[in-house]
Amino acid sequence: MHKKTFFIKVWGCQMNLYDADLIRDILASSGFMPVDNEEDANIILFQTCSVRESAERKIFNHISLLSRRKRQLKNGLIIGICGCMAQNYASSLNKKYPDIDIICGPNGYIDLPNLLETALSRGKFGVSTSEDKRVAYPVLNPSAIKGFQGYVAVMRGCDNFCSYCIVPHVRGREKSRPPEEIYTEIKGLVDNGVKDITLLGQNVNSYGKELKTDFASLLYLLNTIKGDFRLRFLTSHPKDAEEKLFHAMAECDKVCSYLHLPMQSGSNVILEKMNRKYTREKYFETIDLARRIVPDLTVSSDFIVGFPGETNDDFEKTCDAMRRVCYDSSFVFKYSPREGTDAARLPDDVPKEVKEERNRVLLALQEAISHDNNKTYLGKNLRILVEDKSKRNPERLFGRTENFKRVVFAGDASLIGRIVEVKINRVTALTLFGEQINV
Ligand code: 5AD
Ligand code: SF4
Repeated sequence: MHKKTFFIKVWGCQMNLYDADLIRDILASSGFMPVDNEEDANIILFQTCSVRESAERKIFNHISLLSRRKRQLKNGLIIGICGCMAQNYASSLNKKYPDIDIICGPNGYIDLPNLLETALSRGKFGVSTSEDKRVAYPVLNPSAIKGFQGYVAVMRGCDNFCSYCIVPHVRGREKSRPPEEIYTEIKGLVDNGVKDITLLGQNVNSYGKELKTDFASLLYLLNTIKGDFRLRFLTSHPKDAEEKLFHAMAECDKVCSYLHLPMQSGSNVILEKMNRKYTREKYFETIDLARRIVPDLTVSSDFIVGFPGETNDDFEKTCDAMRRVCYDSSFVFKYSPREGTDAARLPDDVPKEVKEERNRVLLALQEAISHDNNKTYLGKNLRILVEDKSKRNPERLFGRTENFKRVVFAGDASLIGRIVEVKINRVTALTLFGEQINV
């Protein structure tokens, strides 16, 4: 076995996918070799997520399994925990799982080659969870991006301190990348055939504060890059999403008409307790404004059910908001207290069964709304960027419209990465189905 082969297992958000690429790049440029199978690696890194308790539980189970394997194999397997859980639990992880060799928080990735070299040569335990943000963005080697899809972090960290959220505690304060650096990176991706680029940040709308610029200006700048590609972005905070952004979305032909604007709750009492800094009325105004300015806009959201003190009436307001906005899709999460956050000091008083029931009701409501929204596409011709073969039926392909609707149709794999026109003839809540019309 190669002494320096590594495999990264990724959990959590798209930011983590991006970070895993970053780690892959940092290690590959220091003589480590990425492998496709966990079994072929002698270094296994977990890229972890702390946002919700359920994800953490799964990751802890995996760490236990891997620790056991390491003891059985006795072949010097190196285990590293990277990302948010590393930052959050550095000292307790070390005590609880003595088989872990490396703990490396989101701001310490640049130290990974050194930590690993030390672990390999002396079997020494290495920790890097520093608050020191020396890195943090070596320009990505475009070939590290798979296929024609790329994720580019435009900023890191978050200053918002929503009361339930661990992110500001583990990822630190907001820090934006200079626009020129992002421009160069994306130009490199586009020149290398990447056609679908997602800009990432915990709150992209506050991009550029410390650089005296803003996110809309970044979109206008990136839109000047020549080539055939789409730009999307995640995530927007309702308190910072402004008219200027919507004009940029409407005017920049590369920027998709898709807005992920997490509402979290439809009740003003809960929004206040969540420290979200907007009311439901203000949120609706923002959505109405965005829809007036951006043609064919699709909108999605995140919701948390069972936040401390959430009454039936509060929950009903969330259902009402979902109907009022008529989202194209939503993620629904059951609240789980995260140690160190403000909300964790409030009693977690909504019973588990009630959280589950509200979760079920809200998901069912979204499904019905999504299905109705999708019916409006029946008979329409849509331009699809073909992403891959359909997982369910390899004879079929799937892709996305410019406003992020998922479309499945019969076609040849040679179309992957190309734009085709599809006439929609059937819809479900999640997917539009149709036939290609420009063969
Ligand atoms: N409990 C449940 N959901 C949470 N989220 C963030 N923190 C928590 C928590 N403690 C959800 C929010 C956020 C998404 C990424 O995860 O809805 O938008
Ligand atoms: Fe967490 Fe709120 Fe920041 Fe999003 S905006 S990462 S929910 S603190």
